[in-house]
Amino acid sequence: MKIIGTGSALPSLVVTNDMIVDILDTSDEWITTRTGVKERRILTEETLTDIAVEAAKKALEDANMASTDLDYIICSNLVNSYATPSLSSIIQGGIGASCPCLDINVACAGFVYALDISEAFLKIGKVKNILIICAEEPSRIVDWTQREISILFGDGAAAAVITKGDDLKAMHLSTTSTIDALYYHRKMEYNPFNTKNENTGPLVMNGKEIYKMAVSASTTEISKVLNDTGLSADDISYFICHQANLRIIEAIRQHLNQPESKFPHNIEKYGNTASATIPILLDELHKSKKLKPGDLLVFSAFGAGFTTGTCIIRWSGNNN
Ligand code: UT7
Repeated sequence: MKIIGTGSALPSLVVTNDMIVDILDTSDEWITTRTGVKERRILTEETLTDIAVEAAKKALEDANMASTDLDYIICSNLVNSYATPSLSSIIQGGIGASCPCLDINVACAGFVYALDISEAFLKIGKVKNILIICAEEPSRIVDWTQREISILFGDGAAAAVITKGDDLKAMHLSTTSTIDALYYHRKMEYNPFNTKNENTGPLVMNGKEIYKMAVSASTTEISKVLNDTGLSADDISYFICHQANLRIIEAIRQHLNQPESKFPHNIEKYGNTASATIPILLDELHKSKKLKPGDLLVFSAFGAGFTTGTCIIRWSGNNN
C-alpha cells in the first residue's frame, strides 16, 4: 500500500481552556501542564457527517481521484448519532461514491487498523483504491461536568486515500481485553421482556491506568517495529503518535532518546480526537510540506479495548 492523498476537517467552534474554566473547577495552567491541550473543536453548527465528508473530499482532491474510482471505504469511528446504518455508508452518499463501505471501532487505534485492513485487501487483489476516514465526536459521550475527562477531548475528522504500493514496512497490532479502564455504556431502549437494570452514563476513564498502559505499549511496540525492519529510531523522520496527552508523547520521545522535532504534535489545538488524531497530524505535516518522499514515518496509537497499533510507513508523496 501507499498513501497518495490526505485531508482533514475540524468543527468551527473553538473551545479554549479559559472557556472551560467558566463552567468547571479547573484552570488553563492545570490543563496545559497535565495534558498539553490549550483548545479543542466541538461540533455544534456542523454534524460529524459534514466534517467527515469535507475531509474525504479534500483527500480525494489531494490524490487527484474521483469518488467513483474508490473500491472500498473504511470508516473508523467510536460513536456517532446512528448505531445503524454505518457512518461509512452515510459518508459514501455525501461524496457520491458507490463502492462497498465498512465501519470499524478500534477506538483511538482505528487509523492504524484501517491501514492494516487496506494492506490485506490490496495484497489479495480485492481492490485498487481505498478511502480511510477517521471521524470522531467524543464530545457526544463525555460528561461536561467531569473535569478529569471532558478537558481532554475534541471532535475532528481526517481521511487518507490508499492505493497499491510498497510503503508499509512493518505493522504491529494488539488487543488486550480491558473494559474497565475506558468505556461508554450504551442505553437499552424500552423492552418489556428484558427488565435488567443496565448501568448507563457518560464515558468512564481511569486516566492513570490508561496513561501507564499507553507509555508502556507504545514504547514496546515502536521498538518491535524497528526491530522487525532492522531500522533504528534515528532512521525515522517523524514519530506521529496518538495525541492523547503531551506528557505521554514526551515519555515515548525520551524513551527513544530522539529530538523534539521528530515528535510533532497538535494536541494543543485539537485535544484528543480519538482515531482522527494521527491522520489530522499527518495531513498537517503533508500540507505544510514537512514530509519528503522517502521519509520513514512511525504511526503509534492506543485506545479503549485496550487496543494498540504501531506501523512504519515510507512516505512516497503524491507529486502535488
Ligand atoms: O485516547 C485515550 C484516552 N485517554 C487517555 O489517554 C488518558 C491518559 N491519562 C491522562 O492523560 C491523565 O491521567 C489525565 C490528564 C487524565 C489526568 O492527569 P493526572 O496527572 O493523572 O492527574 P490525576 O488524575 O492524578 O489528578 C491529579 C489531581 C487530582 O486532585 P488531588 O486528588 O491530587 O487533590 C484531581 O482531582 O488533579 C485533579 N484534577 C484536576 N484539577 C484541575 C483532575 N482533573 C482536573 C482538572 N483541573 N481538569
